[in-house]
Formats: sequence, C-alpha cells, structure tokens
Amino acid sequence: MRFSENFIQEVVDRTDIEELIGRYVELKRSGANLLGRCPFHSEKTPSFSVSPTKKMFFCFGCHAGGSVITFVQKAENLDFPDAVEYLANRAGLPLPKESEQLMGNTGVSRKRVFEMNLEAAKFFRACLFDERLGAAGMQYLHGERGLSVATIKHFGLGFAPDSFNALTDHMHRMGYRDEELIAACLCGKSQKTGRAYDYFRNRVIFPIIDPSGNVVAFGGRVMDDSKPKYLNSSDTPAFKKSKQLFALNFAKNCCAEKMILCEGYMDVIALHAAGFEYAVATLGTAITPEHARIFSKYTQKVIISYDADDAGQNAANKAMRILGEVGMDVRVLKLNGAKDPDEYIKRFGADRFRQVLEQSKTGFDHKSERILAKYDLTVGSDRIKASNEICALIAEYWSGVEREVYLAQSSPALGLPVEVLKNTVEQIRKKQTRAYEAKQSREAQASVKNFGDRINPDAAKDPRAAAAEETVLGLLLIFEEYRNAVERGEIALAEEDFVTDFNRRVFAAIMRMHRSEGGLRPELLGMEFSPDEMGRIEKNEIARQQLSNNGPEVLRSAVNVLKDAKQKGNAGETSLDERIAYLRQKQAKLHKGKADKT
Ligand code: GTP
Ligand code: MN
Repeated sequence: MRFSENFIQEVVDRTDIEELIGRYVELKRSGANLLGRCPFHSEKTPSFSVSPTKKMFFCFGCHAGGSVITFVQKAENLDFPDAVEYLANRAGLPLPKESEQLMGNTGVSRKRVFEMNLEAAKFFRACLFDERLGAAGMQYLHGERGLSVATIKHFGLGFAPDSFNALTDHMHRMGYRDEELIAACLCGKSQKTGRAYDYFRNRVIFPIIDPSGNVVAFGGRVMDDSKPKYLNSSDTPAFKKSKQLFALNFAKNCCAEKMILCEGYMDVIALHAAGFEYAVATLGTAITPEHARIFSKYTQKVIISYDADDAGQNAANKAMRILGEVGMDVRVLKLNGAKDPDEYIKRFGADRFRQVLEQSKTGFDHKSERILAKYDLTVGSDRIKASNEICALIAEYWSGVEREVYLAQSSPALGLPVEVLKNTVEQIRKKQTRAYEAKQSREAQASVKNFGDRINPDAAKDPRAAAAEETVLGLLLIFEEYRNAVERGEIALAEEDFVTDFNRRVFAAIMRMHRSEGGLRPELLGMEFSPDEMGRIEKNEIARQQLSNNGPEVLRSAVNVLKDAKQKGNAGETSLDERIAYLRQKQAKLHKGKADKT
C-alpha cells in the first residue's frame, strides 16, 4: 500500500460524501439519509442511499456499497490507492512524499525502484554503445531497423548482454540487494538458489519513462525471430502496464490538439523521428479505461493508427469504444500498402503519412466503410446483410442525436429510407434491453439461492450457516460492545467457527482493525476487499440496521448456529478417525495373531 492508514483516514475525513456523490447522482433528503437513483445500475425508482454521518453508501437494488473510496473506485474505475490519490487531490491534500510511499509489502520504496531503474537504464545504454558488448544490438537498431544514433540516444535505448549476471553484478556493485532487484522486476529469482539473475538477456531495451521523468519499466526485443518477441517488466505496485503510455514523456509537450495511438514501440519511435512527436503506444496490452482517462487529460483528439491486419483493425474498434466512453474525439487511420506506421513511413515518407493523418475517419465512418466494403450492394441479399450490420452498429450508440446523424448518413449509401433503418435500429435496441433485463433477473434469482454467488461462493455449501455468519458480521460492524465481548472471550467466537471463506476473512479483518490503535474504520476495509466485496460487507451491516431487534441474544443464537454447523462437520471427521483407529486395531490384532502362530 502506497499510503499509510492515517493518510487514508485523513482523505476520507476531508471528503464531503454528499458533495462527492452529488456530482454523479441527484440526492434528496430522506430521514437521516440521502436517496437517489443508483449510478451503478439503471433504475426508475431511487434505491441508492447515502449516509452522511457514516460516510457510506448502499444501493438496495444492485447491492453496490461501501465508503467514499469504494464509490470513486467504482465510478472512476480506479484501484484503491488511485482512488485515495484522486480524493486527496480533490481535497487539496498533498500526497505523502514518494520516498514514503511503499511498494506493496516488499518494503522497497517507489523512489528506490526508480533509482534502480535509472541505474539499469544507464547500464543498458552503456552496453549498447560499447563496441564489443553492444555490437549486435547496434547492428539491429541502427543497421537493420534504420534508427539514427540521435534517435537511439533520444529514446535512451539500450542493450542487455547475453548473460545471466551482467546487470545483477553491476547493480550489486552499486549497492543494491537481490531482494530489491527482484522487487523492481529487473531480476528474476532463481528457484534453485533463491538468488537474483538478469531478467532481460540478449535483447535491445526500450526504457519506459513516465511523464514525470521516472524510468518505470523496460521493454526488451529479441533481434531475431525467437519468442517471445517482446519481454516487458511485469506489473509491480510502482508500475502498472494498464496505466502507462510509451513516449508520453515526450508527447505530453506537443499533444494539446491531437495524439496518435499506435500498437508498437517501433511505430512510436519511427513517428517521432519523422516529426510526429505526439505518438504514443500502450505497453503490449490492449487499451484500458485507465489509458483513456490519461488521453482525456492530455488531448482533445486521438487518432488510432494500429496495424493494417484484421487483428489490428479489430483492436482499433475496441479502442474506439473505450476512448469514446470518456468523451474523446476519436479518429482511425487505415494504412494501405504497409503493415504498420513504422513500415509506412519507411516506404512512403512523412509527408504521405501527414496526408493520411488529415484524412483520418471518425469511428462510425471507419466501421461502416469496413462493412460496406465487404458487400456488393447491387445484390439484394448482400444489401440486406449490410443494412443489418450497419443498423446493429448504429444501435450501439447511446445518444439519440448520434443515431439520427448516422441513420441519415447511411440511408443513401444503402439506398433505403431512413424510417426503415430507424425501425430496425429501435428493434435491436429493444431486444438488447430485454436480454439485459432477463440477465439481471436471472442473476438476482441465482443470488437468492446462493448459487452463482461470486462474492461468497462457499455460501451454497451451508446457506443456513452463511446467513448466521452475515448476522454476526452485521452486528459486529455496528456495535463496538459486541466486538469487545468477542475480544474478551465473553462471546466465544473465533475464525475457525466460520464456515465460509469470505466471511471468515471479513471477521478476521474486523477484529484485527478493532484491536488496532485506530479502531474499526470501515473505509480501510477497502485495502483488503474489492468494491464488490465492500458492497457485500455494507449489505450485512444495513440488513441488521433495518431490523429492530439486535440484542445480544440474536448474536448468541447466530453464534450457536455456527457452532452446530461446526459440530456436524466435525462429526463426520470423528467417525472417520474412529474408523481408522478401528482398522489399525484390527490390523494390529491380525499381526499379533500371525506372530503367535509362528
Ligand atoms: P517490430 O516492428 O516487429 O519490432 O514490432 P512492433 O513494435 O511493430 O510490434 P508488434 O506490432 O509486433 O506488436 C505491438 C506491441 O505489442 C509491441 O510493441 C509490444 O509492446 C507488444 N508485443 C509484441 N509481441 C509481444 C510479445 O511477444 N510479448 C509481449 N509481452 N508483448 C509483445
Ligand atoms: Mn512493426
């Protein structure tokens, strides 16, 4: 965890839940709580409730629930630490210094990782420019791929020698320990000896630098056809692929108007070298909503320039949707005569690329042109297929205005009246809504029966015990005196008494926090539990709050149900033990009998 519990607490204290959630949902007062329409599922009557005193929310419809941090996690699609950071920024709270932010439970700070990475980047670069060590790497980058020395230097490219200890030895000399090198993902850990060894070997190296100038990771490419072609640093708490864009450190200075999104490092490097310094790439993974938010922070328009093959074009369709969802103006390039931007520029030059860039298409145009190109519209059956596909495409757009515009545009191309197409689109949309609702109600029914309970799959094994556990947890969450009673042993309840894994984890977390200095703080549960799990925890609490009788006898009888369930479980085990003991005795007698005879 990057942040201390105290910092998280302060962030929560400084957040006005009503104001935060009020930006997403219109809230009306209802007794002590606020009520609105849930932002996490579609509903007509409000069932989304916010408690300003507890600083928690809960939806009675979809059972989303939790703290202000959980809310931001869900609404903005962030992980826990990023949601804390988001709220800290909102509240104007300065973040703890990077040197104080830790990387998970490795005990290695982010600052230390960045230091190590910088040192490694220098080492790789020195290797590349070493005439003997780096000859193969230089031959590949400069000779084969045609990168100028200036470009190689600009991107800080390097070379990892064909050795298991070149980098490791160097880093040892610089004072870094094995565990640190492994935590930073610069080294792997030998299963035999437990010692560190070079992770990147015999590869040209692309350092990945974040917009603040930190070297956050590396990509390494082989110089022949061996596999894997690229090796990237694995995710660490200091580095998540889903949040990084290659070359954003350069692009950020000249991208206010537009950015180009490519698939590969080499595409980006070729584009920058040709003067398109607003090109970036994801790190060998598909684009995520997190990437989309980064784009929306830096630019107005994204031009997707993926590989020309089908895989690239399908990936482009996905990227359009994800970027469109954050409200970006998205365009797509289709390159003819080359497989990717790198090859295109080599073959046709920067000016041709600039022309194509200016003719980039909107997402709808690009997709509908791909559909129309597949069919011969003079043939009736083809025209029907094309119309159906185009209508399905239009039906995907949420905005009625957009649908109208695309209908008007498609009608002449298909040679069909707008009204006819519009009917088809509306039918598709109705069908989709019905399918969605049916799925929702199936899921609701399944969860009633505890089958398909994704959050607590064990509940199906013993629904009665699982319900008793939920009563216990609800009561413990609400009443400090019950937590004290459990802690002092006045109520005999321990982790072993829990039948389901999930509830046992929740119980352990509640009691651990109860014993800690700061006491139970529900928002900190989010460090251990996912937003969905937080919803379940909050549901247990709300369920008890709505009942009038929460006296100690309720707790005791729920605990007894658990003890009974345990005994029943144990009964089986005892009889098995007994059976084994009986068999042993029998065997012993038999041996004895044999021994007596001889
Ligand atoms: P070359 O031009 O062949 O050097 O590669 P490229 O940069 O054009 O890459 P390509 O289009 O083959 O792949 C796009 C991106 O996907 C690369 O830049 C890598 O980030 C990633 N990638 C490709 N191959 C692999 C692989 O084998 N493993 C991983 N993890 N990522 C890969
Ligand atoms: Mn390529």
